[in-house]
Amino acid sequence: MSKIALVTGANRGLGRNTALAIAKSGGDVIVTYRSNAGQAQEVVTLIREMGRQAVALPLDVADTASIPAFVESLRSELRNTWGRDSFDHLVNNAGHGEFALIDETTEAQFDGLFAVHVKGVFFLAKALLPHLADGGRIVNLSSGLTRISFPGFAAYSAAKAAVEMLTVYMAREFGARGIAVNTVAPGAIETDFGGGLVRDNAEVNAQFAGMTALGRVGLPDDIGPMIASLLRDDNRWVTAQRIEVSGGQTI
Ligand SMILES: NC(=O)c1ccc[n+]([C@@H]2O[C@H](COP(=O)([O-])OP(=O)(O)OC[C@H]3O[C@@H](n4cnc5c(N)ncnc54)[C@H](OP(=O)(O)O)[C@@H]3O)[C@@H](O)[C@H]2O)c1
Repeated sequence: MSKIALVTGANRGLGRNTALAIAKSGGDVIVTYRSNAGQAQEVVTLIREMGRQAVALPLDVADTASIPAFVESLRSELRNTWGRDSFDHLVNNAGHGEFALIDETTEAQFDGLFAVHVKGVFFLAKALLPHLADGGRIVNLSSGLTRISFPGFAAYSAAKAAVEMLTVYMAREFGARGIAVNTVAPGAIETDFGGGLVRDNAEVNAQFAGMTALGRVGLPDDIGPMIASLLRDDNRWVTAQRIEVSGGQTI
């Protein structure tokens, strides 16, 4: 039986790449998207073309009030598409950047970051836990910025640091059911993230490339397949770990 992964924010960027990599390695995918149904449907089509099953469901992870309705839609998709009551893998990927110096960060920016990257991850995992199969996996996305500091990333990095501690507690509390939970912390990757800064600004790109042992910034294909490999059946004894996927950034 194929494993089913739910990837948040899978309509573009690293989530999209992860969804496609999971399908390529033989998994089925629930693609969640905040607003762009067209992009999500495109990912679903690509996955189906690979011979795997996929569905798209809307979810704003910051809107915790909407989570019960999301869980109901998920249960109905699981029954209709897979004839199951559970899924196997949760990838908490959805997220945005708000970059400002501490003395310029607004409360709204701070709250927005923590709503998406911390509260959303916490309460989505809580709501989905009864539907996550025993022996399942959770991957939470953090960032290389929890290990190294740059002016302007304080609130974002603090939110990601919180996610890393949530990972440890999820691993501890869900481990009794055989559920492994890990953090994947990408370095600077060329996506739309932060207004596409790393991808589109040659100076920033070169600056981050110069910090890596492998001499370049990351591409989505450096991340999705790595997450898919963490979800493979034979990669089963890794839990509660923060795995940085950054080409050796600032080592
Ligand atoms: N790219 C990097 O350099 C980098 C480095 C380290 C960590 N990360 C982390 O990796 C994850 C993915 O980043 P990315 O590079 O793929 O960014 P991206 O290209 O900007 O894509 C972000 C994705 O998250 C979704 N999203 C944002 N807020 C959401 C919300 N409230 N509810 C549901 N979905 C939401 C977006 O949906 P919409 O299309 O609706 O906006 C989009 O699908 C994030 O957690 C980010 O913090 C990225």
